[in-house]
Amino acid sequence: MTLWQGRLGDGMAEEVAAFTASVQFDQALAEDDLTGSRAHVKGLGKAGILADDEVTVLLEALDRVGRELDGGTFVFQPGDEDVHTAVERRVTELAGDIGAKLHTGRSRNDQVAADLRLWCRRSLGAVAEDVIGLQDVLLGRAREAGDAYLPGYTHMQRAQPVLLAHHLLAHGWALARDVDRLVATVERLNVSPLGAGALAGSSLPLDPDYVAEELGFHGRFENSLDAVSDRDFVAEALFDLALLGVHLSRMGEEVALWSSEEFGFCALDDAYATGSSMLPQKKNPDVAELARGKAGRLIGHLTGLLVTLKGLPLAYNRDLQEDKEPLFDSVAQVHLALRALTGLFATLGWDHDRMQAAADGPAVAAIDLAELLVERGMPFRQAHALIGGLVRESLERHVPLAELVEAHPSLGDDAARLLEPGVAVTRRTTPGGAGPGPVADQLERFTRRLGVDRARLALRPGSRGGSPAPGVPGPASSSGG
Ligand code: ARG
Repeated sequence: MTLWQGRLGDGMAEEVAAFTASVQFDQALAEDDLTGSRAHVKGLGKAGILADDEVTVLLEALDRVGRELDGGTFVFQPGDEDVHTAVERRVTELAGDIGAKLHTGRSRNDQVAADLRLWCRRSLGAVAEDVIGLQDVLLGRAREAGDAYLPGYTHMQRAQPVLLAHHLLAHGWALARDVDRLVATVERLNVSPLGAGALAGSSLPLDPDYVAEELGFHGRFENSLDAVSDRDFVAEALFDLALLGVHLSRMGEEVALWSSEEFGFCALDDAYATGSSMLPQKKNPDVAELARGKAGRLIGHLTGLLVTLKGLPLAYNRDLQEDKEPLFDSVAQVHLALRALTGLFATLGWDHDRMQAAADGPAVAAIDLAELLVERGMPFRQAHALIGGLVRESLERHVPLAELVEAHPSLGDDAARLLEPGVAVTRRTTPGGAGPGPVADQLERFTRRLGVDRARLALRPGSRGGSPAPGVPGPASSSGG
Protein backbone atom coordinates (compact mmCIF):
# COMPACT_ATOMS: atom_id res chain seq x y z
CA MET A 1 0.00 0.00 0.00
CA THR A 2 1.38 3.44 -0.84
CA LEU A 3 0.80 6.56 1.22
CA TRP A 4 -0.84 8.28 -1.72
CA GLN A 5 -3.32 5.60 -2.84
CA GLY A 6 -6.13 8.19 -2.71
CA ARG A 7 -4.60 10.12 -5.55
CA LEU A 8 -2.74 7.55 -7.67
CA GLY A 9 -4.25 4.18 -6.99
CA ASP A 10 -2.07 1.34 -5.87
CA GLY A 11 -0.22 0.34 -8.98
CA MET A 12 3.40 1.46 -8.62
CA ALA A 13 5.55 -0.39 -11.14
CA GLU A 14 7.96 -2.84 -9.58
CA GLU A 15 11.04 -1.19 -11.01
CA VAL A 16 9.87 2.19 -9.74
CA ALA A 17 9.53 0.75 -6.26
CA ALA A 18 12.99 -0.78 -6.55
CA PHE A 19 14.46 2.49 -7.81
CA THR A 20 12.86 4.83 -5.29
CA ALA A 21 12.88 2.78 -2.09
CA SER A 22 15.29 3.83 0.64
CA VAL A 23 14.21 1.53 3.46
CA GLN A 24 17.24 -0.72 2.93
CA PHE A 25 19.50 2.06 4.21
CA ASP A 26 17.31 4.60 6.00
CA GLN A 27 16.44 1.95 8.62
CA ALA A 28 19.43 3.51 10.35
CA LEU A 29 17.08 6.39 11.18
CA ALA A 30 14.53 4.19 12.98
CA GLU A 31 15.50 5.31 16.49
CA ASP A 32 15.41 8.96 15.44
CA ASP A 33 12.13 8.50 13.58
CA LEU A 34 10.52 7.19 16.77
CA THR A 35 12.05 10.03 18.81
CA GLY A 36 10.69 12.58 16.35
CA SER A 37 7.28 10.91 16.20
CA ARG A 38 6.92 10.88 19.99
CA ALA A 39 7.53 14.62 20.11
CA HIS A 40 5.17 15.16 17.19
CA VAL A 41 2.41 13.18 18.93
CA LYS A 42 2.88 15.17 22.13
CA GLY A 43 2.69 18.33 20.07
CA LEU A 44 -0.58 17.21 18.49
CA GLY A 45 -1.90 16.50 21.99
CA LYS A 46 -0.85 19.90 23.27
CA ALA A 47 -2.53 21.54 20.27
CA GLY A 48 -5.76 19.70 21.06
CA ILE A 49 -5.66 17.87 17.73
CA LEU A 50 -5.31 14.56 19.56
CA ALA A 51 -7.20 13.69 22.76
CA ASP A 52 -5.11 12.65 25.77
CA ASP A 53 -6.06 8.99 25.42
CA GLU A 54 -5.14 9.10 21.73
CA VAL A 55 -1.74 10.48 22.64
CA THR A 56 -1.30 7.61 25.09
CA VAL A 57 -2.31 5.00 22.53
CA LEU A 58 0.07 6.42 19.92
CA LEU A 59 2.99 6.69 22.34
CA GLU A 60 2.43 3.09 23.41
CA ALA A 61 2.33 1.97 19.78
CA LEU A 62 5.56 3.85 19.07
CA ASP A 63 7.19 2.22 22.11
CA ARG A 64 6.05 -1.18 20.89
CA VAL A 65 7.52 -0.48 17.44
CA GLY A 66 10.73 0.51 19.18
CA ARG A 67 10.83 -2.78 21.06
CA GLU A 68 10.15 -4.71 17.86
CA LEU A 69 12.95 -2.89 16.07
CA ASP A 70 15.37 -3.39 18.97
CA GLY A 71 14.46 -7.07 19.33
CA GLY A 72 14.75 -7.73 15.62
CA THR A 73 11.10 -8.81 15.37
CA PHE A 74 9.94 -5.82 13.32
CA VAL A 75 8.94 -7.09 9.88
CA PHE A 76 9.42 -4.70 6.99
CA GLN A 77 6.75 -5.17 4.30
CA PRO A 78 7.32 -4.98 0.56
CA GLY A 79 5.34 -1.73 0.39
CA ASP A 80 7.49 -0.01 3.05
CA GLU A 81 9.23 2.52 0.85
CA ASP A 82 11.25 4.08 3.64
CA VAL A 83 11.57 3.79 7.39
CA HIS A 84 9.00 6.55 7.95
CA THR A 85 6.40 4.64 5.93
CA ALA A 86 7.24 1.41 7.73
CA VAL A 87 6.86 2.92 11.21
CA GLU A 88 3.57 4.64 10.32
CA ARG A 89 2.23 1.46 8.72
CA ARG A 90 3.03 -0.58 11.83
CA VAL A 91 1.61 2.07 14.21
CA THR A 92 -1.59 2.00 12.18
CA GLU A 93 -1.70 -1.82 12.37
CA LEU A 94 -1.29 -1.59 16.15
CA ALA A 95 -3.56 1.38 16.84
CA GLY A 96 -6.08 1.30 14.00
CA ASP A 97 -7.85 4.60 13.32
CA ILE A 98 -5.84 6.36 16.01
CA GLY A 99 -2.67 5.18 14.28
CA ALA A 100 -3.97 6.79 11.12
CA LYS A 101 -3.76 10.15 12.93
CA LEU A 102 0.01 9.92 13.49
CA HIS A 103 0.96 11.81 10.34
CA THR A 104 -1.44 14.71 10.99
CA GLY A 105 0.22 18.07 10.29
CA ARG A 106 3.43 16.43 9.16
CA SER A 107 5.12 15.53 5.89
CA ARG A 108 7.94 13.12 5.32
CA ASN A 109 9.78 16.19 4.11
CA ASP A 110 10.02 17.81 7.53
CA GLN A 111 10.10 14.40 9.20
CA VAL A 112 13.15 13.12 7.33
CA ALA A 113 14.98 16.39 7.87
CA ALA A 114 14.32 16.13 11.60
CA ASP A 115 15.34 12.47 11.76
CA LEU A 116 18.57 13.17 9.94
CA ARG A 117 19.44 16.05 12.25
CA LEU A 118 18.85 13.85 15.27
CA TRP A 119 20.98 11.12 13.70
CA CYS A 120 23.81 13.54 12.94
CA ARG A 121 23.64 14.96 16.44
CA ARG A 122 24.34 11.63 18.08
CA SER A 123 26.56 10.16 15.37
CA LEU A 124 28.94 13.10 14.96
CA GLY A 125 29.31 13.24 18.72
CA ALA A 126 30.26 9.57 18.73
CA VAL A 127 32.86 10.20 16.00
CA ALA A 128 34.33 13.01 18.10
CA GLU A 129 34.57 10.61 21.05
CA ASP A 130 36.60 8.21 18.91
CA VAL A 131 38.84 11.07 17.79
CA ILE A 132 39.54 11.83 21.44
CA GLY A 133 40.42 8.16 21.93
CA LEU A 134 43.10 8.48 19.26
CA GLN A 135 44.33 11.80 20.70
CA ASP A 136 44.67 10.08 24.06
CA VAL A 137 46.96 7.45 22.57
CA LEU A 138 49.03 10.12 20.81
CA LEU A 139 49.35 11.98 24.11
CA GLY A 140 50.40 8.82 25.96
CA ARG A 141 52.99 7.96 23.32
CA ALA A 142 54.24 11.56 23.30
CA ARG A 143 54.68 11.50 27.08
CA GLU A 144 56.58 8.24 27.05
CA ALA A 145 58.78 9.37 24.11
CA GLY A 146 60.74 11.62 26.48
CA ASP A 147 63.70 13.21 24.76
CA ALA A 148 63.69 10.94 21.69
CA TYR A 149 64.07 12.94 18.51
CA LEU A 150 63.96 12.43 14.78
CA PRO A 151 64.43 14.55 11.70
CA GLY A 152 61.69 17.00 10.96
CA TYR A 153 61.17 17.22 7.20
CA THR A 154 60.30 19.90 4.70
CA HIS A 155 60.02 18.92 1.05
CA MET A 156 60.65 15.36 2.33
CA GLN A 157 64.23 16.46 3.06
CA ARG A 158 65.72 16.30 6.55
CA ALA A 159 65.42 19.84 7.84
CA GLN A 160 65.79 20.18 11.62
CA PRO A 161 65.58 17.68 14.45
CA VAL A 162 62.31 17.64 16.42
CA LEU A 163 61.24 15.70 19.48
CA LEU A 164 59.17 12.62 18.65
CA ALA A 165 56.64 13.93 21.18
CA HIS A 166 56.39 17.15 19.18
CA HIS A 167 55.74 15.25 15.97
CA LEU A 168 53.04 13.09 17.56
CA LEU A 169 51.32 16.10 19.07
CA ALA A 170 51.27 17.83 15.69
CA HIS A 171 48.79 15.16 14.65
CA GLY A 172 47.02 15.56 17.97
CA TRP A 173 46.37 19.27 17.43
CA ALA A 174 45.01 18.69 13.92
CA LEU A 175 42.61 16.19 15.44
CA ALA A 176 41.63 18.79 18.07
CA ARG A 177 40.42 21.02 15.25
CA ASP A 178 38.42 18.06 13.91
CA VAL A 179 36.72 17.67 17.27
CA ASP A 180 36.06 21.39 17.34
CA ARG A 181 34.50 21.28 13.87
CA LEU A 182 32.30 18.30 14.72
CA VAL A 183 31.06 19.98 17.90
CA ALA A 184 30.37 23.23 16.03
CA THR A 185 28.55 21.38 13.25
CA VAL A 186 26.34 19.66 15.81
CA GLU A 187 25.58 22.97 17.46
CA ARG A 188 24.65 24.56 14.12
CA LEU A 189 22.48 21.67 12.96
CA ASN A 190 20.60 21.47 16.23
CA VAL A 191 17.53 23.27 14.87
CA SER A 192 14.12 21.64 14.42
CA PRO A 193 12.50 21.53 10.98
CA LEU A 194 9.34 19.90 12.37
CA GLY A 195 6.22 21.90 11.60
CA ALA A 196 7.44 22.96 8.17
CA GLY A 197 5.20 20.26 6.72
CA ALA A 198 5.67 19.49 3.05
CA LEU A 199 7.01 23.00 2.42
CA ALA A 200 4.74 25.71 3.77
CA GLY A 201 3.61 24.95 7.31
CA SER A 202 0.08 23.96 8.27
CA SER A 203 -3.48 25.17 8.79
CA LEU A 204 -3.60 23.17 12.03
CA PRO A 205 -2.65 24.94 15.29
CA LEU A 206 0.76 23.23 15.60
CA ASP A 207 3.45 24.57 17.92
CA PRO A 208 6.87 23.94 16.32
CA ASP A 209 8.61 25.65 19.26
CA TYR A 210 7.17 23.12 21.67
CA VAL A 211 8.21 20.17 19.50
CA ALA A 212 11.69 21.66 19.06
CA GLU A 213 12.09 21.92 22.81
CA GLU A 214 10.82 18.37 23.35
CA LEU A 215 13.58 17.14 21.06
CA GLY A 216 16.35 19.14 22.71
CA PHE A 217 16.83 21.36 19.66
CA HIS A 218 18.04 24.91 20.30
CA GLY A 219 14.98 26.22 18.48
CA ARG A 220 12.81 25.83 15.41
CA PHE A 221 13.27 26.68 11.74
CA GLU A 222 12.64 30.27 10.62
CA ASN A 223 11.39 29.47 7.11
CA SER A 224 9.50 26.33 6.14
CA LEU A 225 10.89 26.20 2.57
CA ASP A 226 14.42 26.42 3.90
CA ALA A 227 13.68 23.88 6.63
CA VAL A 228 12.71 21.04 4.28
CA SER A 229 15.39 21.69 1.66
CA ASP A 230 18.37 22.54 3.86
CA ARG A 231 21.05 19.85 3.75
CA ASP A 232 23.89 22.22 4.67
CA PHE A 233 24.34 20.21 7.83
CA VAL A 234 24.92 17.01 5.87
CA ALA A 235 27.44 18.74 3.63
CA GLU A 236 29.17 20.18 6.68
CA ALA A 237 29.25 16.80 8.36
CA LEU A 238 30.73 15.26 5.21
CA PHE A 239 33.34 18.00 5.05
CA ASP A 240 34.26 17.51 8.71
CA LEU A 241 34.61 13.78 8.09
CA ALA A 242 36.53 14.25 4.84
CA LEU A 243 39.04 16.59 6.46
CA LEU A 244 39.35 14.27 9.44
CA GLY A 245 39.96 11.54 6.86
CA VAL A 246 42.70 13.63 5.28
CA HIS A 247 44.36 13.96 8.69
CA LEU A 248 44.13 10.20 9.23
CA SER A 249 45.53 9.71 5.74
CA ARG A 250 48.56 11.82 6.63
CA MET A 251 49.12 9.75 9.76
CA GLY A 252 48.75 6.55 7.74
CA GLU A 253 51.17 7.79 5.11
CA GLU A 254 53.79 8.48 7.76
CA VAL A 255 53.45 5.09 9.36
CA ALA A 256 53.76 3.46 5.92
CA LEU A 257 56.97 5.44 5.33
CA TRP A 258 58.40 5.12 8.81
CA SER A 259 57.83 1.37 8.97
CA SER A 260 59.59 0.81 5.63
CA GLU A 261 63.10 -0.60 5.69
CA GLU A 262 64.30 2.64 4.14
CA PHE A 263 63.23 4.67 7.19
CA GLY A 264 63.03 1.99 9.87
CA PHE A 265 61.76 4.48 12.45
CA CYS A 266 59.06 2.15 13.72
CA ALA A 267 57.88 -1.45 13.61
CA LEU A 268 54.27 -2.57 13.39
CA ASP A 269 52.83 -4.83 16.02
CA ASP A 270 51.91 -8.18 14.43
CA ALA A 271 48.24 -7.65 15.32
CA TYR A 272 48.22 -4.42 13.30
CA ALA A 273 50.09 -5.73 10.27
CA THR A 274 49.17 -8.02 7.41
CA GLY A 275 51.13 -10.59 5.46
CA SER A 276 51.52 -11.24 1.77
CA SER A 277 49.80 -14.15 0.05
CA MET A 278 52.94 -14.74 -2.03
CA LEU A 279 56.00 -13.20 -0.39
CA PRO A 280 56.71 -15.00 2.89
CA GLN A 281 58.94 -12.27 4.32
CA LYS A 282 56.40 -9.44 4.02
CA LYS A 283 54.86 -7.53 6.90
CA ASN A 284 52.60 -4.93 5.38
CA PRO A 285 51.16 -1.70 6.80
CA ASP A 286 47.65 -2.26 5.40
CA VAL A 287 45.97 -0.39 8.26
CA ALA A 288 48.06 2.68 7.51
CA GLU A 289 47.41 2.34 3.79
CA LEU A 290 43.66 1.97 4.21
CA ALA A 291 43.58 4.96 6.55
CA ARG A 292 45.16 6.80 3.63
CA GLY A 293 42.91 5.19 1.04
CA LYS A 294 39.62 5.88 2.83
CA ALA A 295 40.20 9.62 2.52
CA GLY A 296 39.50 9.37 -1.21
CA ARG A 297 36.13 7.80 -0.53
CA LEU A 298 35.26 10.40 2.10
CA ILE A 299 36.15 13.26 -0.24
CA GLY A 300 34.05 11.55 -2.92
CA HIS A 301 31.02 11.46 -0.63
CA LEU A 302 31.32 15.19 0.06
CA THR A 303 31.76 15.98 -3.61
CA GLY A 304 28.83 13.76 -4.58
CA LEU A 305 26.44 15.44 -2.19
CA LEU A 306 27.48 18.95 -3.21
CA VAL A 307 26.85 18.05 -6.85
CA THR A 308 23.43 16.66 -5.95
CA LEU A 309 22.51 19.82 -4.03
CA LYS A 310 23.88 22.12 -6.69
CA GLY A 311 21.15 21.26 -9.21
CA LEU A 312 18.14 21.68 -6.95
CA PRO A 313 15.54 24.42 -6.78
CA LEU A 314 13.57 24.94 -3.57
CA ALA A 315 12.14 23.03 -1.82
CA TYR A 316 12.11 19.25 -1.23
CA ASN A 317 13.09 17.19 -4.24
CA ARG A 318 13.58 13.45 -4.17
CA ASP A 319 17.23 13.93 -5.07
CA LEU A 320 17.67 14.76 -1.39
CA GLN A 321 17.22 11.10 -0.56
CA GLU A 322 20.76 10.72 -1.91
CA ASP A 323 22.07 12.47 1.21
CA LYS A 324 21.90 9.42 3.43
CA GLU A 325 24.15 6.71 2.06
CA PRO A 326 27.26 8.92 1.79
CA LEU A 327 26.61 10.25 5.28
CA PHE A 328 26.08 6.84 6.86
CA ASP A 329 29.05 5.39 5.01
CA SER A 330 31.36 8.27 5.91
CA VAL A 331 30.53 7.97 9.59
CA ALA A 332 30.98 4.19 9.52
CA GLN A 333 34.30 4.34 7.66
CA VAL A 334 35.71 7.05 9.91
CA HIS A 335 34.83 5.02 13.00
CA LEU A 336 36.60 1.99 11.55
CA ALA A 337 39.65 4.01 10.57
CA LEU A 338 39.86 5.80 13.92
CA ARG A 339 39.69 2.60 15.91
CA ALA A 340 42.22 0.76 13.76
CA LEU A 341 44.65 3.70 13.81
CA THR A 342 44.23 4.09 17.56
CA GLY A 343 45.35 0.49 18.04
CA LEU A 344 48.10 0.88 15.47
CA PHE A 345 49.59 3.91 17.21
CA ALA A 346 49.16 2.37 20.65
CA THR A 347 51.27 -0.62 19.61
CA LEU A 348 53.91 0.87 17.28
CA GLY A 349 57.43 0.03 18.37
CA TRP A 350 59.82 2.97 17.95
CA ASP A 351 63.42 2.63 16.90
CA HIS A 352 64.89 5.66 18.62
CA ASP A 353 68.41 4.83 17.44
CA ARG A 354 67.39 4.86 13.79
CA MET A 355 65.44 8.09 14.20
CA GLN A 356 68.20 9.83 16.05
CA ALA A 357 70.91 8.64 13.69
CA ALA A 358 68.88 10.09 10.82
CA ALA A 359 68.49 13.35 12.72
CA ASP A 360 72.16 13.61 13.64
CA GLY A 361 73.23 14.35 10.08
CA PRO A 362 76.27 16.64 9.86
CA ALA A 363 74.35 19.71 8.72
CA VAL A 364 71.08 19.62 10.69
CA ALA A 365 72.45 22.21 13.09
CA ALA A 366 73.37 24.64 10.30
CA ILE A 367 70.63 27.06 11.37
CA ASP A 368 71.85 26.87 14.97
CA LEU A 369 75.33 27.87 13.84
CA ALA A 370 73.88 30.79 11.91
CA GLU A 371 71.82 31.84 14.93
CA LEU A 372 74.88 31.62 17.15
CA LEU A 373 76.57 34.12 14.83
CA VAL A 374 73.45 36.31 15.05
CA GLU A 375 73.72 36.19 18.85
CA ARG A 376 77.33 37.30 18.44
CA GLY A 377 76.18 40.32 16.45
CA MET A 378 76.38 39.24 12.81
CA PRO A 379 73.43 40.17 10.52
CA PHE A 380 71.45 37.01 9.75
CA ARG A 381 71.85 37.13 5.96
CA GLN A 382 75.62 37.30 6.39
CA ALA A 383 75.60 34.43 8.92
CA HIS A 384 73.45 32.35 6.58
CA ALA A 385 75.94 32.88 3.74
CA LEU A 386 78.92 32.07 5.95
CA ILE A 387 77.47 28.77 7.24
CA GLY A 388 76.15 27.88 3.79
CA GLY A 389 79.68 28.34 2.47
CA LEU A 390 81.10 26.04 5.15
CA VAL A 391 78.51 23.32 4.38
CA ARG A 392 79.42 23.55 0.74
CA GLU A 393 83.12 23.42 1.46
CA SER A 394 82.62 20.43 3.73
CA LEU A 395 80.80 18.56 0.97
CA GLU A 396 83.21 19.53 -1.79
CA ARG A 397 86.42 18.86 0.13
CA HIS A 398 85.05 15.92 2.14
CA VAL A 399 86.06 17.58 5.38
CA PRO A 400 83.72 17.15 8.39
CA LEU A 401 81.70 20.32 8.99
CA ALA A 402 82.64 20.25 12.68
CA GLU A 403 86.32 20.56 11.76
CA LEU A 404 85.69 23.63 9.59
CA VAL A 405 83.49 25.19 12.27
CA GLU A 406 86.10 24.64 14.96
CA ALA A 407 88.80 26.22 12.81
CA HIS A 408 86.74 29.25 11.77
CA PRO A 409 87.66 32.47 13.61
CA SER A 410 84.03 33.54 14.08
CA LEU A 411 82.93 30.10 15.32
CA GLY A 412 85.30 27.80 17.25
CA ASP A 413 84.80 25.06 19.91
CA ASP A 414 81.52 26.33 21.35
CA ALA A 415 80.01 26.39 17.92
CA ALA A 416 81.31 22.93 17.00
CA ARG A 417 79.59 21.52 20.09
CA LEU A 418 76.22 22.39 18.53
CA LEU A 419 76.93 19.74 15.92
CA GLU A 420 77.19 16.95 18.49
CA PRO A 421 74.35 14.38 18.44
CA GLY A 422 71.24 15.46 20.30
CA VAL A 423 72.29 19.06 20.87
CA ALA A 424 70.46 20.81 18.05
CA VAL A 425 66.98 19.74 19.18
CA THR A 426 67.57 21.27 22.61
CA ARG A 427 68.08 24.64 20.92
CA ARG A 428 64.39 24.90 19.95
CA THR A 429 63.30 26.94 22.93
CA THR A 430 60.54 29.22 21.66
CA PRO A 431 56.87 28.64 22.60
CA GLY A 432 55.29 25.93 20.44
CA GLY A 433 58.73 24.87 19.24
CA ALA A 434 60.19 21.37 18.90
CA GLY A 435 62.65 21.29 21.84
CA PRO A 436 62.22 19.83 25.34
CA GLY A 437 61.20 23.05 27.10
CA PRO A 438 58.32 24.08 24.85
CA VAL A 439 57.25 20.46 24.33
CA ALA A 440 56.90 19.95 28.09
CA ASP A 441 54.64 23.00 28.12
CA GLN A 442 52.78 21.74 25.06
CA LEU A 443 52.11 18.39 26.74
CA GLU A 444 50.39 20.27 29.55
CA ARG A 445 48.38 22.41 27.16
CA PHE A 446 47.32 19.41 25.09
CA THR A 447 46.25 17.51 28.20
CA ARG A 448 44.12 20.47 29.26
CA ARG A 449 42.63 20.76 25.77
CA LEU A 450 41.62 17.10 25.81
CA GLY A 451 39.90 17.64 29.14
CA VAL A 452 38.00 20.65 27.82
CA ASP A 453 36.92 18.78 24.69
CA ARG A 454 35.76 15.79 26.74
CA ALA A 455 33.59 18.14 28.79
CA ARG A 456 32.20 19.80 25.67
CA LEU A 457 31.22 16.40 24.32
CA ALA A 458 29.55 15.40 27.55
CA LEU A 459 27.46 18.57 27.38
CA ARG A 460 26.51 18.31 23.73
CA PRO A 461 22.82 18.14 22.84
CA GLY A 462 21.53 14.60 22.94
CA SER A 463 24.77 13.25 24.39
CA ARG A 464 24.74 9.67 25.62
CA GLY A 465 25.27 10.83 29.18
CA GLY A 466 21.94 12.63 29.38
CA SER A 467 18.49 12.33 27.89
CA PRO A 468 18.28 13.72 24.38
CA ALA A 469 14.84 15.07 25.18
CA PRO A 470 13.77 18.20 27.06
CA GLY A 471 16.13 20.53 28.78
CA VAL A 472 19.39 19.28 27.29
CA PRO A 473 21.81 22.16 27.65
CA GLY A 474 23.50 23.43 24.53
CA PRO A 475 27.28 23.82 24.39
CA ALA A 476 26.96 27.46 25.43
CA SER A 477 25.04 26.61 28.61
CA SER A 478 26.89 25.91 31.83
CA SER A 479 24.06 24.12 33.62
CA GLY A 480 23.66 20.38 33.87
CA GLY A 481 26.15 17.86 32.61
N1 ARG B 1 12.73 8.73 1.75
C1 ARG B 1 12.62 10.13 1.51
C2 ARG B 1 13.95 10.82 1.72
O1 ARG B 1 14.77 10.25 2.35
C3 ARG B 1 11.63 10.71 2.47
C4 ARG B 1 10.92 11.92 1.96
C5 ARG B 1 10.06 11.61 0.82
N2 ARG B 1 9.21 12.69 0.51
C6 ARG B 1 8.53 12.72 -0.64
N3 ARG B 1 7.79 13.71 -0.81
N4 ARG B 1 8.64 11.80 -1.55
O2 ARG B 1 14.23 11.89 1.22
